[in-house]
Amino acid sequence: MGKLRIVMLPYLAYGHITPFLELAKKLSNRGFSIDICSSPINLSFIKEKIPEKYSSSIHLIELHLPNLPELPPHHHTTNGLPSHLKQTLFKALKMTKPQFHQILNDKKPDFLIYDIMLLWSGVVASSLNIPSLNFYTVNAAIFSYFFHFYYNPGEEFPFPALYMRDYEQAKMTHEVVDDAEVEVDKDNVTESDKFVLVHSSKSIDGKYMDYLCGTGQAKVVPIGTQSPEDDVGDLDIELLKWLEKKTEHSTVYVSFGSEYFLSKEEMEEVAYGLELSGADFIWVVRYQKGEQVELPQGFKERIGERGRIIEGWAPQQRILKHSSIGGFVTHCGWNSTLESIEFGVPIIAMPMLYDQPLNARLMVENGVAVEVPRDENGNLDRLNIAEKIKHVISDETGENLRKKMNNLGENVRSQREDEMDGVVEVIQLLIDEKNSQK
Ligand code: UDX
Repeated sequence: MGKLRIVMLPYLAYGHITPFLELAKKLSNRGFSIDICSSPINLSFIKEKIPEKYSSSIHLIELHLPNLPELPPHHHTTNGLPSHLKQTLFKALKMTKPQFHQILNDKKPDFLIYDIMLLWSGVVASSLNIPSLNFYTVNAAIFSYFFHFYYNPGEEFPFPALYMRDYEQAKMTHEVVDDAEVEVDKDNVTESDKFVLVHSSKSIDGKYMDYLCGTGQAKVVPIGTQSPEDDVGDLDIELLKWLEKKTEHSTVYVSFGSEYFLSKEEMEEVAYGLELSGADFIWVVRYQKGEQVELPQGFKERIGERGRIIEGWAPQQRILKHSSIGGFVTHCGWNSTLESIEFGVPIIAMPMLYDQPLNARLMVENGVAVEVPRDENGNLDRLNIAEKIKHVISDETGENLRKKMNNLGENVRSQREDEMDGVVEVIQLLIDEKNSQK
């Protein structure tokens, strides 16, 4: 028998594509052949990230979005997409349904794994008798949070540590899913609809997985976390030299991910917060085209050798891996959070939107993060930023967090292969079930 073939359809955002790619590599290591389907602009990003050794087992399929006048081809990804175009991208994606039907019909894969944001694609697979699984690219804690409010509106969430006043803000992710106009026939739910893959590990949010399984509505299957990129590689020589001069765990790495741009006020608070903290730092600064957001005047001069500013994009994993790094000031995007766990770096959480506030709470609950409090108007404050950085870098708070982070990393690594066994079992079960119906 040849290799089993799986088509994957991630949502068009780096934050979703990255975990899909991780899953593709893990499944390819288990003998599956993978086709990843995405828009050309995303495929070029994916192509760069596939190590050579996967070139014969991971393939790419182009999905062509319609030419909508308000959505030129360079906007066929959410990265750098102005927020008012997000719904248009959704609309365009849904319009690819007949094309996706054709792709599945031509390829006749054994299985489909699709993004939970694109539920319509599971319906397409089902119409062609192809078994499928959906993949929620963040963790089970968040899934359980939204799941709870969806099915039990008005009832209290049973896990107070995760509960937040800013639920309205966190709900944004969920509304996007609602907008996908799910066309699932509720009377015709198949076994596959009951399973949800999550990008997490039992050690991180096992109790939320158990809670979801206990509701009888969703069987959560963690894919485990990612192993660091096969080759996190070497750092730029100048940056490496600079880091080597710093003492162990003395430096914070500051980054807010691939989607979020700081406002002018936020940029100032972060800059002054770093300055007041006295810590050494590497800060990845991203500017949105057309926006007048700049570093405060004279900042670079005042900071001198204490800090390094990287404009645009940094080799994040390589930096986090370096022993001089003692804290990660992060928006708590889920990929960054997992990388912090992998490299044992305590988190100084500054969540911005979507799932990030909940990820931050989950990490605080795990004892591996401190969250920077916002002022009464919900704004960032330089004094709070400086204070939390100081705690993590210079007093025993950091040591305690680091110990717990290292433990969490070890637990996660020790479960990695078992968790993938679980994923393979479910895929096989669903394929066998479909075959037995034929
Ligand atoms: C998006 C959403 O914003 C987030 O809420 C959700 O959890 C995942 O999708 P994003 O903003 O891209 O996430 O952040 P994150 O999930 O942390 O992913 C960023 C990825 O880009 C990480 O793998 C990180 O290593 C990489 N990165 C980021 C770099 O390599 N260099 C950089 O300079 C910035």
